[in-house]
Amino acid sequence: MIKFTIITLFQEALEPYLKTSMMWKAVDKGLAKFDFVNLRDFGLGPHKSVDDTPYGGGDGMLLRCEPVFAAVESVKAKDPEAKVILPTPVGEIWNQEKARSLAKDAHYIILCPHYEGYDERILSIVDYKVSLGKYVLTGGELPALIIIDSVVRLIPGVLGGETSALVESFSDGDNLEYPQYTKPYDFRGMTVPDILLSGNHGEIAKWREEHSGKA
Ligand code: ADE
Repeated sequence: MIKFTIITLFQEALEPYLKTSMMWKAVDKGLAKFDFVNLRDFGLGPHKSVDDTPYGGGDGMLLRCEPVFAAVESVKAKDPEAKVILPTPVGEIWNQEKARSLAKDAHYIILCPHYEGYDERILSIVDYKVSLGKYVLTGGELPALIIIDSVVRLIPGVLGGETSALVESFSDGDNLEYPQYTKPYDFRGMTVPDILLSGNHGEIAKWREEHSGKA
């Protein structure tokens, strides 16, 4: 079973998605497990503070080391093998190959930063720095969901058809999936390519190959 423990201040932002559709089915089938750790529980002082101003000045607040280390250590105390993923715009760009490499029987801790950033020393306990692209989000929650979704759907048994994850977009290098159609044949004058109705599997395979896009 693949397991994700998400360290966040905003569990309520993540839960609805993970309780829906394929992610929920993966849990229901015993193929995936999602746990949450509230970073606030490890905050400092009466206000359970998790952030502070940057040394040297500058705008905004940074996640401090103490609550983050304590939260990660609380998970690792139970499972020292768990690997830490940090969504950050300075990480390696996420792609299908990376998703595939994590899709195995393993335990991942996703640490969701918030505020303007995090104390650089937090990187000393991170195994994977992941960027979703060259833009900046307000926190790690959306990246966490994207990482989880793209990995969990590759776990055998999560998707309906045994081969859906194999033949689809991006599973073969940079090949994009071919165009697909369902009923009706004619929708507002836009018709389905006749070759797909021909029943000639060889020709259909050739057409699909020719019409697969490149990323
Ligand atoms: N946090 C903020 N922006 C991000 C991005 N582009 N990718 C991953 N984590 C982020």
